Amino acid sequence: MGCSASWWIQTLCVCFIPLENAAVQVTVRYSRLEVVQGEFVLLPCAFVTTSPLSRLNIIWTLAPFSNPEAPIQVIVYDHGQVIEDPSLTGRVGFADIPWTADIILNDTQISDAGIYRCMVNNPPEAGDPGIAELVLSVIMPPSLPVCQWAGDVEVGGSVTLSCVVGSGTPTPEIQWAKLNPEEISLPVNMEGDLSGSVQIVNMTSATSGLYRCSATNPLGTQNCYVNLSVYSPSESSPGILQGVLLTLSMALVLLALLAVALWLHRTGPDGRWRDAKEQREEEEEEECYNEIRYTPTLMKRSFV
Ligand SMILES: *[C@@H]1O[C@H](CO)[C@@H](O)[C@H](O)[C@H]1NC(C)=O
Ligand SMILES: *[C@@H]1O[C@H](CO)[C@@H](O)[C@H](O)[C@H]1NC(C)=O
Ligand SMILES: *[C@@H]1O[C@H](CO)[C@@H](O)[C@H](O)[C@H]1NC(C)=O
Repeated sequence: MGCSASWWIQTLCVCFIPLENAAVQVTVRYSRLEVVQGEFVLLPCAFVTTSPLSRLNIIWTLAPFSNPEAPIQVIVYDHGQVIEDPSLTGRVGFADIPWTADIILNDTQISDAGIYRCMVNNPPEAGDPGIAELVLSVIMPPSLPVCQWAGDVEVGGSVTLSCVVGSGTPTPEIQWAKLNPEEISLPVNMEGDLSGSVQIVNMTSATSGLYRCSATNPLGTQNCYVNLSVYSPSESSPGILQGVLLTLSMALVLLALLAVALWLHRTGPDGRWRDAKEQREEEEEEECYNEIRYTPTLMKRSFV
């Protein structure tokens, strides 16, 4: 029993010594907070003081992750007056002043992320002001990535598929996959944090298909797609082949026509000559022989 009594006394002493020395006791319920961009967050800061609250002074400061060298005074409570930083006017306010130093931050932005410090002073309570710190992270889902391709989409060619995601906190992970015939993931070359590309070399017709880039962080996934159609020179040549074949067949037809024309030229006159010859031969019997013999050769010559 004596043992436990001395433990109690010790504990009480430990509790009271800081109170006597330093003034206002400040505590935060959480030292780390996370909020989704656009939502509100309550930054807790409770204090204990023995003096009346008429001269209470509270100062909240922020060292933003985006610019730690330039801390700002988020909001100040002094003698019953509230002063906000102009950049936060309308978005920040005390939740239950003067009973706590909690503040509410509305419509949170990525730039709100950083180390917040709550400092409470309550004269005439002596000693240093009570100070507490907490870290606020503002997270946001990935934005819609942009997919692009560049290169030769023909058999044997190579293509680069690139994917750029504008924003996302924490930084989204970029992945590429070919979706058909079955889904396979592809090795991604990262260019910076927000851009990832895939190199496809020596393409075959099997390279054709739908490709997906996905940007993922704990808040979600966004996708964009590239539909690649690899053409082969043999696939494209039917047009050329058809053209060649058409020209060839036209040439053949022309040749045939020419041959027919030549044949007609040769046979036609001869045929007519034969008719004429027969006629002449009939006439020949009544008329002169000499005349008839010369005529065919003359006619032949004139036709050839
Ligand atoms: C934050 O938003 C809530 C709800 O819209 C509103 O009631 C409150 O006044 C806002 N606080 C500040 C500091 O603007
Ligand atoms: C491209 O693929 C063909 C057929 O698979 C192969 O013969 C050739 O060596 C490849 N060329 C390169 C540069 O990889
Ligand atoms: C991809 O392109 C091919 C050929 O252009 C087409 O047949 C197919 O439907 C497309 N797929 C998608 C998902 O758009």
